[in-house]
Amino acid sequence: MCGIFGYIGFQKATPLLVNGLRKLEYRGYDSAGICLLEPNKLKTIKAKGRVGELARKVDNEILPATIGISHTRWATHGEPSERNAHPHLDCQEKIAVVHNGIIENYQALKKLLEKEGHCFLSDTDTEVVSHLIEKFCLNNNFEEAVLKTLALLEGAWGLAILKAGENKIIAAKKGSPLILGIGNNEMFLASDASAILEHTKKVVYFNDGEMVVIDQKGFLTKMANGDIVKKEIQELKWDVGQIEKAGFKHFMLKEIFEQPQAIANTLRGRITDNEVKLSIDIDPASIKRIIMVACGTSFYSGLIGKHLFEKICRLPVEVEYASEFRYRDPIINNNDLAIAISQSGETADTLAALNEAKRKGAKTLGIINVVGSTISREVDSGIYLHAGPEIGVASTKAFTCQITALVLLALYLQQEKNAQIDKNIIKELKLIPEKIQQVLNQAELVKALANFIKNSSNALFLGRGFSYPVALEGALKLKEISYIHAEGYPAAEMKHGPIALVDENMPVVFIATNDQTYEKILSNMQEIKARNGKILAIVNPGDIRASQLANWTIETPKTIDLLSPIVNVIPLQLLAYYVADAKGIDVDKPRNLAKSVTVE
Ligand code: G6P
Repeated sequence: MCGIFGYIGFQKATPLLVNGLRKLEYRGYDSAGICLLEPNKLKTIKAKGRVGELARKVDNEILPATIGISHTRWATHGEPSERNAHPHLDCQEKIAVVHNGIIENYQALKKLLEKEGHCFLSDTDTEVVSHLIEKFCLNNNFEEAVLKTLALLEGAWGLAILKAGENKIIAAKKGSPLILGIGNNEMFLASDASAILEHTKKVVYFNDGEMVVIDQKGFLTKMANGDIVKKEIQELKWDVGQIEKAGFKHFMLKEIFEQPQAIANTLRGRITDNEVKLSIDIDPASIKRIIMVACGTSFYSGLIGKHLFEKICRLPVEVEYASEFRYRDPIINNNDLAIAISQSGETADTLAALNEAKRKGAKTLGIINVVGSTISREVDSGIYLHAGPEIGVASTKAFTCQITALVLLALYLQQEKNAQIDKNIIKELKLIPEKIQQVLNQAELVKALANFIKNSSNALFLGRGFSYPVALEGALKLKEISYIHAEGYPAAEMKHGPIALVDENMPVVFIATNDQTYEKILSNMQEIKARNGKILAIVNPGDIRASQLANWTIETPKTIDLLSPIVNVIPLQLLAYYVADAKGIDVDKPRNLAKSVTVE
């Protein structure tokens, strides 16, 4: 949520800041703003709406500054407006702050500062930060004032701060991501690597509680008590091509089409014909229960993971919404393995749930896409997806790669505990990229079918067993990018409520491939047909019985039941995409959503 970009160097900062914000826009797009360091004063420009609005404004000005900070906002406190856009200034307009996160105690701090005569111009939590620094600057230097301010804050922050007359940026991190890119006589600060990659591959990741003072030539990292922290410079593995659209209309479509390659990358070097190789620092024999915590699409891959671990390893598994888990005093044992599933590795609730499990003695493992992200650095062990950057707000390739990684982990635990492995699963797993490609080859058919759904107000997605979480994910995809109300349901449960909604205007998507629930699904389809619902069925090639009940069908290649979600979700991703695109919605930036949710 919210993207931060900062630049200090020898080039004109403005185009770099605007370009950086464009890369981070997936994190929020309610408003945007920049602040430039001019000789002894600050120049601030803000705009409501997307980064494009800000770009139009800055284009009209001559701005020679070579130091600046910027922000693209996902509103938490205060409506989306120019007044609430970052950067936020102090009373003297000498200090500017951009912030990603939430200052939880801002109301108490604001009251105090108002009593002391500070005037607030916005409704945001962030503005207290600039006023606190102003207050402490009266008796301290800039750096000390920031340290004193940080000591008073509660909540989460990625902060970048400018002060008139000081040729530096001060940044700080707690609970929100922050990365420094190191160029030649220039430095780039960003919420994530995608904004830095085109400038440099040399980066430094920061830990919670750290503050960093950055100038053109170098940086110095300190802890809250002023102790200096030695940081390691790391090399980014992604390349620039991976964060461009490569001829696709939207990132989401590109990412859907990247799935054969992305899954091949998740598998690369990790399987032979009869072995799974993972470098995991956990004794599999000691694990008696698995608890998965995640949000959104990642939560649904966890639901599939539950089926996988129970089937392959016969281990009990609980899957929890991270936001619920942490507040109910869960019972955790030393023999529990807590698995955090997160594309970004930054989701605040997932991170907090993981820390709760850790605090109570569980071993921890992350299934993460973004290398170096906060969760990836908090866990005892991890499996990176290597799916490449996912920019579209609606998650697609991360989902299928997460399932792939969960299959690998389940097989690995089976192998380490029983000294044997199900070779048939490995064999089938290797065929998955090709099977996905076969579904992608039918994109034009899915596009045509999208026309039958685009004018509906509601849709139901039904599946059983391994296909139930797929139905949930299909419904989530449709609702988040096309704004059609959609519900995913276990097909049999439909009789206990949603069937009341079914009439000739209700499209019902069935995952009806030939698995162990096939016969039962056919009965559920009959029930919908009897009530004139319009059925779109995902079936295997050669299917007759489900196809006869359906109004429309899409074929997905047959695989073993436990891998079927990876293949069967592809047409649902395509369907959501083409429906949303046909409705003219900005698919990569649907309203009210953000890619990386760093608020609780
Ligand atoms: C947001 C995104 C979803 C994502 C969820 C969890 O809601 O829009 O696409 O599934 O966060 O994100 P994570 O990065 O933890 O997988």
